[in-house]
Amino acid sequence: MTIANDIDFGTPAATSDVDVSVTIDGTSICVPAGTSVMRAAAEAGVAIPKLCATDRLDAFGSCRMCVVDIEGRKGTPASCTTPCEDGMVVNTQTPHVAKIRRGVMELYISDHPLDCLTCPANGDCELQDMAGVVGLREVRYGFDGENHLDAPKDESNPYFTFDASKCIACSRCVRACGEVQGTFALTISGRGFESKVSASAGESFLQSECVSCGACVQACPTSTLQEKTVIELGTPTRKVKTTCAYCGVGCSFTAEMRGNELVRMVPDKSGGANEGHSCVKGRFAWGYASHADRVLSPLVRDRIDEPWREATWDEAIAFAAARLQAIQAEHGVDSIGGITSSRCTNEEVFVVQKMIRAAFGNNNVDTCARVCHSPTGYGLKQTFGTSAGTQDFASVEESDVIVVIGANPTDAHPVFASRMKKRLRQGAELIVIDPRRIDLVHSPHVHASHHLQLLPGTNVAVVNAISHVVVTEGLVDTAFVSERCDPASYDAWESFIRLPENSPEALADVTGVPAELIRSAARVYATAPNAAIYYGLGVTEHSQGSTMVMAIANLAMATGNIGRRGVGVNPLRGQNNVQGACDMGSFPHELAGYRHVSDDTVRHQFEAVWGAELRAEPGLRIPNMLDAATVGAFRAIYIQGEDIAQSDPNTQHVRAALEAMDLVIVQDLFLNETSKFAHVFLPGTSFLEKDGTFTNAERRINRVRPIMPSRTGMSEWEVTCALATAMGYPMHYDSASQIMDEIAELTPTFAGVSFALLDRVGSVQWPCNDATPLGTPIMHEDHFVRGLGNFVTTPYVPTDERTTRKFPLLLTTGRSLTQYNVGAQTRRTANVTWHPEDILDMHESDAELRGVADGTWVEVSSRAGVTSMRVRISDDVPAGVVYTTFHHPVSGANVVTTDNSDWATNCPEYKVTAVEVRPQTRVDVGA
Ligand code: SF4
Ligand code: SF4
Ligand code: SF4
Ligand code: FES
Repeated sequence: MTIANDIDFGTPAATSDVDVSVTIDGTSICVPAGTSVMRAAAEAGVAIPKLCATDRLDAFGSCRMCVVDIEGRKGTPASCTTPCEDGMVVNTQTPHVAKIRRGVMELYISDHPLDCLTCPANGDCELQDMAGVVGLREVRYGFDGENHLDAPKDESNPYFTFDASKCIACSRCVRACGEVQGTFALTISGRGFESKVSASAGESFLQSECVSCGACVQACPTSTLQEKTVIELGTPTRKVKTTCAYCGVGCSFTAEMRGNELVRMVPDKSGGANEGHSCVKGRFAWGYASHADRVLSPLVRDRIDEPWREATWDEAIAFAAARLQAIQAEHGVDSIGGITSSRCTNEEVFVVQKMIRAAFGNNNVDTCARVCHSPTGYGLKQTFGTSAGTQDFASVEESDVIVVIGANPTDAHPVFASRMKKRLRQGAELIVIDPRRIDLVHSPHVHASHHLQLLPGTNVAVVNAISHVVVTEGLVDTAFVSERCDPASYDAWESFIRLPENSPEALADVTGVPAELIRSAARVYATAPNAAIYYGLGVTEHSQGSTMVMAIANLAMATGNIGRRGVGVNPLRGQNNVQGACDMGSFPHELAGYRHVSDDTVRHQFEAVWGAELRAEPGLRIPNMLDAATVGAFRAIYIQGEDIAQSDPNTQHVRAALEAMDLVIVQDLFLNETSKFAHVFLPGTSFLEKDGTFTNAERRINRVRPIMPSRTGMSEWEVTCALATAMGYPMHYDSASQIMDEIAELTPTFAGVSFALLDRVGSVQWPCNDATPLGTPIMHEDHFVRGLGNFVTTPYVPTDERTTRKFPLLLTTGRSLTQYNVGAQTRRTANVTWHPEDILDMHESDAELRGVADGTWVEVSSRAGVTSMRVRISDDVPAGVVYTTFHHPVSGANVVTTDNSDWATNCPEYKVTAVEVRPQTRVDVGA
């Protein structure tokens, strides 16, 4: 694709059902009432000059560049702020309006540097384009008077500059920061000639509240706000559409290139998940792909205390295959297994689980979702019949009440958070259930009406108490329950939830949440026309993670909040392809599409296509593999793109298990904590080199397209196929597209999916098959996937992880906006500017009690281990609770997390660890 700007219609589309007819420069067109004259003209193929207008933002009407003549009307109205009226006749190109536009442009140019030829935006500047369009040939006023040509530059942000001398005060940046991003970091200060863009209270961009989403840079019609990479490398010459490889929002981007060099990532307006928005990670933090730390050749060694030696692909694969075969010959078929990665494409994941089932000959495959959203899989399958969020992201725009439980969307799912905040600014009510005061509780123009600041580990008690209020105060949607749900399961649940022990009053001491607050929140949720629940790892990573997912599903069914727009139960998935990795059959008990390995019909279908006999018994989960390794029963593992020695709980146990194995194969971009225990390192590809698909949190299957050849010389799926083949199971595909064809053949929910379809329509949300050829934005509309919705009783069982005199504080963990997961990628970008280390948040009273001062080093100890980090005194956490992130191996927060886990899925209890915090006299961060 060559560079050409997408059509900008000037103002957002109107949504009215009523049409009006207008004539523009002799062309008649029907548009929805409320459509601006500018937009109607653009839809009729007539481009009206503009500077302050763009279709991502509400019309502002400040530049006067878009004036038009309207027959029967006095003056020359701005077409961007004038709505079409039935029968209106508009002339956009009269000599009169042309003269006005030239005069306006002349004024702009008289206070603008005339350095177009050396400007980084030369050829990609709306001011330059418009000067040409209006036919400006000379500037009569000269440049001697007062002007802004020497206004200072702000280069503080690592990714973009602000050159005030080029600013035309159009306010697009200010409006983008407010309307699109919802941060409101920018204002236009001063009036008239003194007008200028200011970040926060006149601070630099870096010091301001700016979160570096890039929306202002994209909105700026000049080079005032400009990506530093464009300044360095020049304007792009070609572009490729692809998908961000960070979080589960799955934003679509256009990678803009010069040759094979990536110049910038621009969020794609047609992207279903992001509609043209982005966050700092996807927009700017892609430099890790070319970081010098990338390993580009395979590495092997006989023992982990030996240095690595470089190998060819053939040598490394032969080495790995021979060892795997020898281990199986000596210790049995079940002595090896593997882990798939939520960071890889569906196609890459599919071939790894296929290799394990067909070439290794067992079902010892698991995925990193084990440590994040496996309870979602279990809980939603039990209640609704399938393991996925129920809505598309756009659905939140129709919610009247939004409940956020154990999630911090502004940091972890920022682009969805911006969409949610927009709805909240329009008046939707917000209920936050979280031990921390996350940003959403109070942010510009957004305030939670209820913050249920529960004690970590008491989620189930809180949601049971909410449901108790719903049932006992007559707030159940009886029509929905009787039509759509299993009556026996409802009756059992109703009798259980009514019990006095589930009342808010009975549970107030346990949860730490005042009973009246719970009652009020329950009434707000249950009586809203449309109420939606969004949840994150604060729900799943508990010993009762699966119970909590089912408790949420019960509540949504009891109140009829399932099966239409604006409602639903929505897990905010962590990694970019965690949904896809689960869909592809990465769990030891399920083949692709969540079908149990013991189902003969399903298994025989796979056997026929794969030409291999498959085992009918589930294999080992990650914790089982690690436990078995420590007793010598599990000897070799293939780990695709996952740093389990840093990301999994109770690090000492993980390391001991890895150390005990005869063979550890790691496939990744960088040598990491896990590769310290590896014998074979197979270099992986960055998302910029991948061809395939990712599936986001709303089940949207997006294309990932290579913008450059693989830097390692092989695609990851080719490496997996080569290893399977070397082990005696021939596996071959001509392309990633062919792998998707096999996925579609074997997975009913993917039956209609192909690269050709995705290339044609952009993206689809599964199920996508004959019944729904363009996908399914909202699930369970007429009936649940399992038929009738199933209520499950959810007794609250306190976690074994309790505070004691020795460990009197509860540690909970989360993510920051600028770092990602264990930080392997983001730590290798300028994002370290904002989050150079993990910090422990602690309440003032706890700090005082321990003599801990803000910014000093502390030792954090639990019964599992000890680590060190600096402390921040913060009232975002209540007394008794401390909080940190786990982005940096040096602090290794998971050293202290325990091996408690969810009863149903073994998902680790990351969110509750009893700890003690002591001032540290020895500052030894490498210890
Ligand atoms: S980068 Fe984003 S947050 Fe920062 S000023 Fe621009 S729009 Fe606002
Ligand atoms: S920085 Fe750009 S978008 Fe903002 S007011 Fe100036 S010219 Fe307009
Ligand atoms: S919100 Fe997630 S998917 Fe979107 S740009 Fe940011 S990290 Fe990437
Ligand atoms: S584009 Fe209409 S007034 Fe600026």
